[in-house]
Amino acid sequence: MKKKIKCFNSIKELIFNYKFFISKEIKIKGWVKHFRYNCFIIINDGSTINNLQIFIDQKFDSLVKKINIGISIEVIGVLVLSKGKEQNIEIYANKIKIIGKFAPEELQKTILQPKTHSFKKLREQAYLRFRTSIFSSIMRIRHNISFSIHKFFFQKNFIYINTPIITTYDSEGAGEMFRVTNFDLKKIPLNEKGELNNNLDFFGTSTYLTVSGQLQGEAAASGLGKIYTFGPTFRAEKSNTFRHLSEFWMIEPEMSFSKLVHNMNIAEKLLKYVIKFVINNSYEDLFFLEKKNKIKIFKRLNNVLESSFERISYTNAIKILKYSKNGEFLQSINWGEDLKSEHEKFLAENYFNNPIIIYNYPLKIKPFYMRINNDNKTVAAMDIIFPYIGEIIGGSQREERYNVLLKRILELNLNIKSLWWYLNIRRFGSVPQSGFGLGFERLIQYITNIDNIKDVIPFPRYPNHAYF
Ligand code: 4AD
Ligand code: MG
Repeated sequence: MKKKIKCFNSIKELIFNYKFFISKEIKIKGWVKHFRYNCFIIINDGSTINNLQIFIDQKFDSLVKKINIGISIEVIGVLVLSKGKEQNIEIYANKIKIIGKFAPEELQKTILQPKTHSFKKLREQAYLRFRTSIFSSIMRIRHNISFSIHKFFFQKNFIYINTPIITTYDSEGAGEMFRVTNFDLKKIPLNEKGELNNNLDFFGTSTYLTVSGQLQGEAAASGLGKIYTFGPTFRAEKSNTFRHLSEFWMIEPEMSFSKLVHNMNIAEKLLKYVIKFVINNSYEDLFFLEKKNKIKIFKRLNNVLESSFERISYTNAIKILKYSKNGEFLQSINWGEDLKSEHEKFLAENYFNNPIIIYNYPLKIKPFYMRINNDNKTVAAMDIIFPYIGEIIGGSQREERYNVLLKRILELNLNIKSLWWYLNIRRFGSVPQSGFGLGFERLIQYITNIDNIKDVIPFPRYPNHAYF
């Protein structure tokens, strides 16, 4: 009779259930991470930061010669308790099958060699970096952050909707969008004035990759009450910094019957919920990153949970920046000017040493859709600024008064032909509405304490880089 072998689909599953299978024969697969002494092969399959130790005796001597780091194997063996301190269990191998192999000299050309590589080096082989401990750890945390965001909104009865990626309008008014066209670039049709004839393009007009799903989100919230989007957004700005990507993911909740303070409350709750979830569910990965990078990740995250985010008006923020002695070395700033990242950094990192919410920004530096305050000089905007990262959330109460909105659109000389439908949202049963955009990768960066945003997304896109 054939012996029954328990097949595990992942090392994570095995570690979770090991107590039920001690002394039993099991089957498991993974990639070889390294060898220990002459009698252990260490494998990992990406499901957890924990490796699995395989004990091999002399009968595998000839096979082991064919095994090098990075290749994939299937192991059948007996699960035993380990005498080593580093792991609870190990497998006493009975059978080892090589699934996929490559020559040891090939290994030298890859980041799979068992040594620490710089993030920059890992990025050059981004398609292989999922197999490194550090990057797989970041990706598992990313996964948990994403899941917890959906869970938060699910529990609060928000409806998840998807907004278009191809749009005709720049909702943020920054004018830095990627054009989408199917024109034959060698024969671009021009009109009588010698300008691009966009009417002949695929959609009969000029189209772009979206910078935000907000405007469509507002339309949806005007019927569904509370919605959120979670999708890719694109910005063609040339800023190649540690916190900018050309393609990044944004979470955009939009709420009817909601004013600015409620908006801030939800944003703060969301961030704390996610951090708590990740501490509980990505504990091992965070612990690994803390050890590896010698940074007190848990202490920092717990500080965020324990504090309430300081809320200051833009006007008071300017006062602090102007009159704070320690801020003297900063570039001077006057009321009405946009805060530079060094100002935000000073406020969140040095002055308050905690996440802060800055609200009521000058009308002139914010987009058309934000609600004008009674002073007629500021709008009901709010940005959440985190130490080390800077702006992580940008949002506002929306201008729900049709006439005020129309006036603002006309004053700013915006393209009313593209915005007529947005105006119509406010014509039919308008209500106070607010929402925000959370930069997904910036949040991951903060939680994992990874310096560069390019290292928390599977395949980063930034100026001069669209590889893989
Ligand atoms: O402040 P932003 O531009 O706001 C909006 O797009 C609004 N429509 C959001 C809304 O109210 N629904 O972007 C929101 C967030 C920023 O706070 C930042 O975290 C992130 O998106 N972000 C970027 N992340 C990575 N790379 C970039 N180039 C980013 N630009 C913005
Ligand atoms: Mg912003």
